[in-house]
Amino acid sequence: MSISIVTGDGKRSSERAEAFGDRLASRTAGMKASVLREILKVASQPGVISLAGGLPAPESFPVDFMPELIAKVLKKYGPAVFQYGPTEGFPPFREILAGYLAERGVKATADEVIVTTGSQQMLDTLGKVLISPGDKVAVESPTYLGALAAFNPYQPNYVAIDSDDDGVIPESLEEILAAGSVKFVYLIPNFQNPSGRTIPADRRKAIAKSVIRYNALLIEDDPYRALRYEGNHLPTIWSMAPDNVVHAGTMSKVLSPGLRLGFSVAPALIRRWMVLAKQGIDLHTSSFDQALAAEYIAEGYLERHLPRIVDLYRPRLRAMLDSLEEFFPDSFSWSKPQGGMFVWATGPEGLDTDKLYAKAIERKVAYVPGQYFFSSPGVGKNTMRLNFSNVGEEAIKTGIKTLAWLMAEASS
Ligand SMILES: Cc1ncc(COP(=O)(O)O)c(C=O)c1O
Repeated sequence: MSISIVTGDGKRSSERAEAFGDRLASRTAGMKASVLREILKVASQPGVISLAGGLPAPESFPVDFMPELIAKVLKKYGPAVFQYGPTEGFPPFREILAGYLAERGVKATADEVIVTTGSQQMLDTLGKVLISPGDKVAVESPTYLGALAAFNPYQPNYVAIDSDDDGVIPESLEEILAAGSVKFVYLIPNFQNPSGRTIPADRRKAIAKSVIRYNALLIEDDPYRALRYEGNHLPTIWSMAPDNVVHAGTMSKVLSPGLRLGFSVAPALIRRWMVLAKQGIDLHTSSFDQALAAEYIAEGYLERHLPRIVDLYRPRLRAMLDSLEEFFPDSFSWSKPQGGMFVWATGPEGLDTDKLYAKAIERKVAYVPGQYFFSSPGVGKNTMRLNFSNVGEEAIKTGIKTLAWLMAEASS
């Protein structure tokens, strides 16, 4: 079986020749068809064990108590949830979020919270209001592919911050900021997508100090914080540098990604511009969905439901780490996260996980080749992202065993 993954560049030349190809805006040059989407299409074929996607488990969704929650929302808010609403967000949801965020040390008033259509939209609005073509944006190495996709149309130049097993190396960030002219820094502090890494407390302090020293702007994208299966929560970078940080979270991992609810707290000027940008995109995020999420938090559903999600994912992470330990070749190393949805594996130099992907699919297992998560081409060819949230323990074991065999064969 052969798989063809259509990259943006491959598509572009044929599209130029197509009808209306000459009408595309110049900014589309920076946009690529998401390789991940193509990979996921292949990964979702029947019978494939997909360690590729980043999907929450369907069993984690609030199907059982949703009718009750909907009834409560209708009774409490009536027709207001079907009306147009403020761009900043449904006021009761913003009120609840202010309390929710305070628990992580993000002390903001309801007026300072903006609701977006997923945290993905927060990334787009920030790209839109901050990035002019050629501006420098500092990102982790590797980083979230969706952030690169959100920023790319605004044509930034990425600067990769050096990272190790504990995430970004503060000295590298300091050096980049000292060199000047970085528009903003983009970080995922907890159980990073794709690497699963978490930035330890002392590094967070050093990062906060650097951004204050250089008056830099930092986006702290924190979707996985609540998915902690071991250990203690760490302080947010926002709590140490509130005037320099946009802190963003999402309901996607603790309620449902399909509802598309993200939220952020940003310095006042940035917030005003994000709201202006959002007005032009979708006027506001679904009022009904925001009301559902408000009640989900306020009425204690989240508090009762989150432990169920954690109990579902904890053994899956364990199964993945144990299987890697048992089956993977010694020439590999991998991250050992205490939460989130991803483990990151690194093979020997010379291994090309992208080339091996087709072979893995033939054997009915999917992963994401790691190179797509790097802002610079040619980096990370020997890496891969493995998701454990959307597959049961037995399938994880089978999948890792199969990959181990393939990797051993390829690296021998
Ligand atoms: C780091 C990161 N940021 C943002 C998002 C987008 O999440 P949302 O569903 O809130 O748009 C994701 C989704 O996987 C993510 O991993």
